[in-house]
Amino acid sequence: MLKLKGSIEISGDKSISHRALIFASLSSGMVKISNLLESDDVLRTLNILRELGIKIIKKDKKWLVFGNGTGGYMQPMQALNCGNSGTTSRLMMGAVSSNPISCTFVGDSSLSKRTMSRLSVFLEKMGAEISLTNNDFLPLRIDGDMNLLPMEHVMQKASAQVKSALMLSALNIRGKTIIIEKRNTRDHTERLMNFLKIKFKKKILNKKSTAIELNGPYEIKPKNITVANDPSSAAFFIVGALIIPNSNITLKNISLNKTRIAFIDVLRKMGGKIKIKKLKNLSGEDVGDINASYSLLKGVTIESSHSPYLIDEYPILSIAASQARGFTRMKGLSELRHKESDRIKSITTNLSKVGFNITSKKDDIIIEGQKNIQVTSIKKIKTYGDHRIAMSFNILGLLYENKLIIDNESCISISYPKFKLHLDKLTTLY
Ligand code: S3P
Repeated sequence: MLKLKGSIEISGDKSISHRALIFASLSSGMVKISNLLESDDVLRTLNILRELGIKIIKKDKKWLVFGNGTGGYMQPMQALNCGNSGTTSRLMMGAVSSNPISCTFVGDSSLSKRTMSRLSVFLEKMGAEISLTNNDFLPLRIDGDMNLLPMEHVMQKASAQVKSALMLSALNIRGKTIIIEKRNTRDHTERLMNFLKIKFKKKILNKKSTAIELNGPYEIKPKNITVANDPSSAAFFIVGALIIPNSNITLKNISLNKTRIAFIDVLRKMGGKIKIKKLKNLSGEDVGDINASYSLLKGVTIESSHSPYLIDEYPILSIAASQARGFTRMKGLSELRHKESDRIKSITTNLSKVGFNITSKKDDIIIEGQKNIQVTSIKKIKTYGDHRIAMSFNILGLLYENKLIIDNESCISISYPKFKLHLDKLTTLY
């Protein structure tokens, strides 16, 4: 038998790593970044910044970014390749839009199927010229302008990427940019801006909605950044510990940002034994240790209003649901169709292949937990090249002694190259 046991430090947060690099590149001097996540997605952002004339080197485990100030990007000599990274494409489109340069953005086949018009409509209104493939997709070309118009944007769809892109653009726009979110989203950009002492206003309009006001152009003073560890990566091991008998693990220095750890509230509601010890603040983010131990889970209903704060955790939550007593209903998941794969399809196809009773109605998923399911023959899991699907089914596979064969595990390096290494460290045979 196998269990998860022990205490480890996992890798740096993906969302914060992208932002740390971009804000460092816009600073007026050298910024040292510690604990940067060196995953494929983050390295895409790093290389694109180099293409834009930013010197970036690694020294003694830290990354040194020699910022060129806001509006300081240079004309790139080749297309900017975002690989699989939605965050790179959206954030960098925003960041370059208020610079007088022309950039072509390209991506892999998955990213080239993901909508870009959700951001380009806003940038075009301000005066950037953008041509998209089939009006929505990469490859796209953007002709930026240092005289973009300061405007009020109303975001109907919840997207931290779009919000952050508009904030990055506003840093080099003369005058007041207002961004109204009808549904609040994850707030790493705001936290990092507070830490870097970049002034902006955030007004709460009602329980769900916020307005952010920026007044550019800004000068960003260089300040070193330490990246907190990634709660979305921690979620895989936390669920692993909850579903594998006799497990008990502690993950250290994880970001405890409320907009990221909503999955812990869900797992606790399911009966998960999870303890959090808040320790300190790292570059604007509260961090602490998270302990999880084996628990008897029960099914719950997750309302759609929570989806912006659970957006990356539905695949692993569906694994927890498969081991819970009763039904779990996850509602309003339409955004999952626009991720690295159509995650409604990837979750339902794979869980039913293993033998679970799972249905999807429109944008809802309903899973019947079956803790004692017998998996007697080999089941081939299709990742669709989606890192979070690959890691989620790796965790489920721990329960079924090598019966789940995952078709393409290399995609895990998109967000968590050390996943297997860390899983090995936590795995004990007894
Ligand atoms: C991210 C925002 C989310 C999330 C992605 C990272 C970010 O995307 O799914 O992995 O760093 O801002 P959306 O903003 O499109 O929901």
